[in-house]
Amino acid sequence: MTQTITMVVLSAGLENFKEIRQALSADERTRLLAGGNDAEQLYDEIVRLKPAAALITLDSNPEQGIEMIKRLARERPTMAIISAARSDSSDLILRSLRAGARDFLRIPIFAQELKTVLDRTVAFSDDQVEAPRKKGRMISVFSSKGGCGTSFLATNLAAAMAGRTVLVDLNLQAGDLPLFLGVDPKYSIADMAEHRARLDESLVNSFITPYSSTLSLLAAPKEVDAADEVEPEHIFEVLQRLRDSYELVVLDPQHTFDAITLAALDQSDEIILVLTLDIPAIRSTQRALEIFDRLGYPRKKIRVVVNRWSKQIDLDLQQVEKFLGEAVSGFIPSDYQTAVTSINLGQPLVQSDSNSKLAQEIRRLAKVIGGASMPVAEPKPQRGFWGSLLRRDQPQFDLQTTMGKV
Ligand SMILES: Nc1ncnc2c1ncn2[C@@H]1O[C@H](COP(=O)(O)OP(=O)(O)O)[C@@H](O)[C@H]1O
Ligand SMILES: [Mg+2]
Repeated sequence: MTQTITMVVLSAGLENFKEIRQALSADERTRLLAGGNDAEQLYDEIVRLKPAAALITLDSNPEQGIEMIKRLARERPTMAIISAARSDSSDLILRSLRAGARDFLRIPIFAQELKTVLDRTVAFSDDQVEAPRKKGRMISVFSSKGGCGTSFLATNLAAAMAGRTVLVDLNLQAGDLPLFLGVDPKYSIADMAEHRARLDESLVNSFITPYSSTLSLLAAPKEVDAADEVEPEHIFEVLQRLRDSYELVVLDPQHTFDAITLAALDQSDEIILVLTLDIPAIRSTQRALEIFDRLGYPRKKIRVVVNRWSKQIDLDLQQVEKFLGEAVSGFIPSDYQTAVTSINLGQPLVQSDSNSKLAQEIRRLAKVIGGASMPVAEPKPQRGFWGSLLRRDQPQFDLQTTMGKV
């Protein structure tokens, strides 16, 4: 059976395109899907059509062509890139091959040369049978009552993970996660939702705000109006897309059962249901569990975690569990000063005060959540006495700087 090779062409104007199209049609294996001289437009078509090969001409604008080859080699590694030029300058050929082209074709294209290049393209494509990419896990850190510490826990759980993790702020009207990480996002989930139809790797990367080599933030919009444009289906699509790029997606949803929160909870593999041990929070958690039952969520999807736990709280835990109809599977101790200091510094506690009891317990919970597939970053050894004295980069909380980022 003859194998079809789907192709796109970055040409140097209409005449050049017609000439190439004619030459390609000489080999019955080729099927031309799109062409043009605008690299950006062609890139969008490549994302949409997923051709097996791209022919990039270098005649009219060699720099644009070389940049395009680099970009495709980086972001579309399973596609065969063929450079082509009227000039057979060895310098240009070499540059295109170094940029990532697999082959070079002289223009005008001779049938025999085309055949050789297409044979090699078929061989390359056969090797690229893409292993289905594993989807990342998604967890929501949720509480149906505000103030229980979901944003604090979501940030610290995400920061504790050693694999590629994205933290998503779903409080679209009043997201505050940038403050927890001390970052100043340029783009938000509203931008990602707007461009959801063409979210390739580089576009995803341009909308997120990196925090460390493993953790990134997808922030809520700064302008309240921007949130009005975002529909729950958009959020659904964006979250699905994030699962392609990240091993773990950690969501910080709102404290209501609005459509966006439900879109997030529905898709989550696991919900960390956070409560504090006071009557309003216990009551609200019990209602949340009832709603989860009605939504058909299996109980194994839900993990009830008590935050701000202290031995001094005079409540019988067994009674609480009986009232909830669910066992509590995690206790995060109460330590207001440590928690607030880390938030005010804009640094996750698991890094800024990694040996505190609070950080240790959060890491313990992160290990349970991450399971075998997602290791937890172990804290770096603390500096010795001299080290701390000599340390100049001690983080200092500065209200002016922090507020400037809001
Ligand atoms: N384990 C804890 N011990 C003491 N204070 C905590 C703890 N967890 C969170 N807090 C505090 O609770 C407050 C609310 O936390 P936040 O994460 O903003 O809540 P939510 O997002 O659920 O509304 C913050 O001031 C935070 O410092
Ligand atoms: Mg919050």
